[in-house]
Amino acid sequence: MMLYVEIDKDIEMISDLIEELQGIADISDNHCKCQKSGNRKFSGLLRASWQICRAGHLWRAFRLVAGKKMEDQYRAAHVYSRFFVPFREWLRFCVLCNCMKRICKRMILALMRHSLPLAARKRIAHWVGQRSLFTRLFPPVELLRDVADYDPNYFHRFLWSNHLGYAESYEVSRFGPEKLDISRRMLFADIQKYLRGRAIAPERDVRSVFECGCSLGYLLRYAETNVFHGATSLLGVDVDMYAIEKGRAYLREAQSKIQITAGEASYLEPVISDQQYDVVLCCGVLLYFDELTAARIVKTLLRHTRMVLGLISLAHSDMHNCRLKHSERRHSDQGFVHNLDAMIRAGGGRLVARRWMPRPPSEGTSPPYFVLAEPRSAYPL
Ligand SMILES: C[S@@+](CC[C@H](N)C(=O)[O-])C[C@H]1O[C@@H](n2cnc3c(N)ncnc32)[C@H](O)[C@@H]1O
Repeated sequence: MMLYVEIDKDIEMISDLIEELQGIADISDNHCKCQKSGNRKFSGLLRASWQICRAGHLWRAFRLVAGKKMEDQYRAAHVYSRFFVPFREWLRFCVLCNCMKRICKRMILALMRHSLPLAARKRIAHWVGQRSLFTRLFPPVELLRDVADYDPNYFHRFLWSNHLGYAESYEVSRFGPEKLDISRRMLFADIQKYLRGRAIAPERDVRSVFECGCSLGYLLRYAETNVFHGATSLLGVDVDMYAIEKGRAYLREAQSKIQITAGEASYLEPVISDQQYDVVLCCGVLLYFDELTAARIVKTLLRHTRMVLGLISLAHSDMHNCRLKHSERRHSDQGFVHNLDAMIRAGGGRLVARRWMPRPPSEGTSPPYFVLAEPRSAYPL
């Protein structure tokens, strides 16, 4: 046992004590290390570290030699050595275990990635995703991390369509105006401002809304109840079947007009054919596609937009997105940071408003980049 004692006592008294202790416990001179100050006094905190055999003897020795004050100091030291030291050692042990666990987990995941074929890993990821106990042991994102390098679109689609990884937090609890993320509210405010500037009353004149990547449909529900009261046609498409089913049940119960359906963002034609929508939204979706595919989606969305297209994607943390020559990959989740301005221009649209927010407006969300665009045909200059 290690004993730490805080002492501010005359050196002779301490020497007496040590002699006394050596008589009753197995303490050699080497076990006692003290620091002396010039005037034979201990100063400040001295750490005498004694390896003792029998704490009971030591306690009696202190009572004998040092009197009440020493006794109090010993008691404090005793508590320290009895409780704090083991606790600190326990913490150290936990930290060490945690590090070892992480290293082992990484090694096992790397081994699985290198030895198992993709089909087997996909099956494991799917199985694990349904058992929350195992998702922490074998995170699906980690099992398939290598896929993100050679086919990022597929990697993200697999996770979303199986409601895995970052998709898991999408539940009906997201419905409700008070739950809507601040960035989405800002987008709606921008759209309303833009429409009013065009002498369009959002609550009356907007009749149809389409959302690409609608998840459960909570943005469309907000649009229906809080923004576009006159809309009679509200359609959403998403690849996450779990979210679609949950959202549908919720919306049916709420007697909403919103329709949500399963579909692929990069292949929207089967869902919307030649329909046009007054307002088209695509928030937090384009980051899951590489540059070429994202540009193609933007072009398609513009083609189906009558009044305004509202996009939210990732903001670049160092420079305005409009200065990016090519899309960049965010390391943390393999999401893409795009130059939406260029995509709008290439897609035949006109940029009408934008907002670069390298700091996210709410905690735990990604920094957003907003763009509002209109099809060139909508309002000829
Ligand atoms: C970050 S969530 C955003 C949800 C909602 N739009 C919002 O702004 O809160 C991204 C959504 O895009 C959907 N998504 C991802 N990849 C997709 C794809 N390939 N086709 C259709 N939807 C996709 C996901 O299922 C998910 O619901």
